Amino acid sequence: MELQISRKNYTKTRLVSSSVQENTLADGEVLLKVDSFALTANNITYAVVGDKLGYWQFFPPQLTVEEAQSNAVNDHWGILPVWGFADVVRSNHPDVPIGERLFGYFPPSSHLIMQPSSLSPSSWIDASVHRSKLPVGYNIYRRVQAEANYDKSFEQYRMLLYPLHITAFSLYNYFKTKNWFGAKQIVMLSASSKTSTGLAYGVANDKQAPKQIALTSSANKNMVLGLNVYDDTFAYNELSKIDASIPTLIVDMSGNGSLLSDLHEHLGDNMMFCSNVGVTHWEDMQPGPHFNAERSEMFFAPSQLQALIKEHGMAGFEQLSNAYLKHSIGESAKWLKMNKLNGLEEMSSIFNDVCNGKVPPEVGLIIQL
Ligand SMILES: NC(=O)c1ccc[n+]([C@@H]2O[C@H](COP(=O)([O-])OP(=O)(O)OC[C@H]3O[C@@H](n4cnc5c(N)ncnc54)[C@H](OP(=O)(O)O)[C@@H]3O)[C@@H](O)[C@H]2O)c1
Repeated sequence: MELQISRKNYTKTRLVSSSVQENTLADGEVLLKVDSFALTANNITYAVVGDKLGYWQFFPPQLTVEEAQSNAVNDHWGILPVWGFADVVRSNHPDVPIGERLFGYFPPSSHLIMQPSSLSPSSWIDASVHRSKLPVGYNIYRRVQAEANYDKSFEQYRMLLYPLHITAFSLYNYFKTKNWFGAKQIVMLSASSKTSTGLAYGVANDKQAPKQIALTSSANKNMVLGLNVYDDTFAYNELSKIDASIPTLIVDMSGNGSLLSDLHEHLGDNMMFCSNVGVTHWEDMQPGPHFNAERSEMFFAPSQLQALIKEHGMAGFEQLSNAYLKHSIGESAKWLKMNKLNGLEEMSSIFNDVCNGKVPPEVGLIIQL
């Protein structure tokens, strides 16, 4: 089975039976059984920017039997990538044993065929042709049983938070390198999101960093206040309470066009820089009249992470990022409520709620296949 999403209407899904587990493996190929993965607004964003940034290309969808018989081209349905764990159940690769467990980017499907290349004791890269032009960070798989500190009970936090907090780590380093763009306060939009809180823990841990202000929906204000990590917390309709006399850096996870426009207008020349990181409010992306495009920039974590690896070397990068994530994940684990769902049917029944922002921010959704 695999869960497919309508590329024209993200709230629409379908389950298609897949026969990939019966395929004969070519030389060098392995068959993986997907075990579990996390689901957050980040996955919905993969759909929102899927055409622009290539996210639909990682895992080509299966056709239904009828579509296959009519030679239809499947350009309506797509597969949304998720972060999780999978096990090798068949191997035609001399250096990959059956039973090997991997962490990385998977489809919400029962099985997947890969072509491991560039193998090291700790990782490999999937060299499947259709993935060769996509950002390398998404094609790397961690061979977790080779990790000295691998702990199975930590897997749920890793699949939920690693992609979000490694982004937070790269944001933190980027802003620090830029001397916070001269800002004396940071305003985070969609401050209840796990990516925002991952950044907030890093900023709060740095005594030299500016103070940080959370902007969130009225419904999530109490949750954000309860985190005790932001210096101030306002609901979106209280935006005018932000002190506009202070030079400000905006970190935007919402992509909300009118909200950004209002905030840019309110801050005026003290809007030093706006980092456009996410689009959780994907239905409200229409740009507003006061959006300051000259001082705004899209943020793409995989590129920043490659730059950090180049700067520090892989060992240095891992040391720095592990220390950051240990702290941010440790803090998040104190309030996160993990909710484990069984199978792709339960995933499809909650999918609408995730799309529409109806899952409470303290909930961590894990799908167990
Ligand atoms: N640029 C990059 O490289 C990069 C990397 C990682 C993540 N990101 C982005 O960061 C964003 C946050 O991802 P996440 O996984 O951390 O999110 P998350 O934890 O699932 O965030 C949930 C929060 O997002 C807001 N939200 C979600 N769906 C909504 C909807 N339909 N309408 C209104 N609000 C909604 C709500 O926050 P509020 O009430 O506080 O608004 C909600 O509490 C995503 O857009 C993600 O793609 C970008």
